[in-house]
Amino acid sequence: MIPYPEVIVGTDLRTRFPDTELVSEYLAAGSPAGELIYLGFGETWTKAAPGLTAALAALPTHAHGYIISQYGLPRLQRVLRSYITRTHGLAPEFSAGVDYEVAVTAGGTRNAMFDFGRMLRADGASTVLAPMPGWDYAGVFGPLGYRTRYYPVDRGQPVTDGLTMDRNTLLVINAQHNPTGANWRPELIRELLAFARAAGAAVLLDDAYFGVHDPEQTPTSALSLLLQETPGSRWLAVRSLGKQFHCSGWGIGAATADPRTLDALVNRWQFQRSFASAIPLQEAMASWLADPASERYLAEQGRAHSVKRAAVQESLCSDLGYPPDMAQVGEFAPFARIPLPRAHRDGSVLQFRHECLRKTGVLVGVDRWDAENSDRSPCYRLYLGPELPVIIEAITRMGRAGYGY
Ligand SMILES: Cc1ncc(COP(=O)(O)O)c(C=O)c1O
Repeated sequence: MIPYPEVIVGTDLRTRFPDTELVSEYLAAGSPAGELIYLGFGETWTKAAPGLTAALAALPTHAHGYIISQYGLPRLQRVLRSYITRTHGLAPEFSAGVDYEVAVTAGGTRNAMFDFGRMLRADGASTVLAPMPGWDYAGVFGPLGYRTRYYPVDRGQPVTDGLTMDRNTLLVINAQHNPTGANWRPELIRELLAFARAAGAAVLLDDAYFGVHDPEQTPTSALSLLLQETPGSRWLAVRSLGKQFHCSGWGIGAATADPRTLDALVNRWQFQRSFASAIPLQEAMASWLADPASERYLAEQGRAHSVKRAAVQESLCSDLGYPPDMAQVGEFAPFARIPLPRAHRDGSVLQFRHECLRKTGVLVGVDRWDAENSDRSPCYRLYLGPELPVIIEAITRMGRAGYGY
């Protein structure tokens, strides 16, 4: 059982995250429709990889001081450099230190995106071009003065027709797509990269879910494709490690960029706000990534995800009456994107979430952060991280409440 009041609800402090209010209200009412099942934000809280937490319990004594390198803990930086090279399948003609370099990110890859945004803004960038539906890129770049434009994602794949961009554009590519879980086809990513190169636009690759898939499946390596496109220096690839090891609260990940860009990014822009931090977590992550058990853990998680995915698809059909393929339950991110029940399609996803929580105790998520860009066929998002019986219980409760297709 998840101690929600310990992880979500700050009763006396202000938060602008809407789920906090919804959850507080539901718990304060005594959980009238049963124990809360939280499938909104992608978080499990209690499922951190055991080998990772064991590594945290066995830290060296020198793990608690400042690290005098903005690239992060030297041991983790070295491990990540070969981890990124290997897992993203970077071709041998590209060398670390020459064609790309890797730094540790702490405090979430959002920080690295923000620094990159500041750096490009000083160089004239003014527009971010991001996938819709998609993650909260507007929330990162908007406050820096960027305008957000969107390109559509249709049945999980980016639509490249009619794309326009210029040198002041930052193109975002999220090849393992949140919220659909689809893996973007290499030829579409090549097209996006070619557009960016022709326009001189900067590129952000957000590979947050690159490690979250069945071992039988191969994610498209946008980073490998980008290096093959002679990309110049205005690009950044971020890879959170939080999703794959269920430790998002650690905020540890990797930032890969052209060596000159990364130098400026960490030694100038990051240094303006922070020394390298979270060093104990970096120590533990370095040990864990070097341990073959971390590969086995990922394979097991990936296989479990396939099983869940199939069961969820089946349950959406049998319990909620969705025609096959109506919901997007992708193989490359732990989410399902599901059209609202017909009776709710004229209302908003936010209203549906609220009502669904009151009636079922299940809090579902949103498939976008920017309400202005509502779809004609609005969808909600289900997080598939918890154990399968929990997810099936959620769908069953929703069926009983009349939330069929
Ligand atoms: C698509 C996407 N990008 C980036 C992030 C940020 O990840 P982190 O905070 O683990 O670096 C998330 C987290 O939800 C995400 O879903």
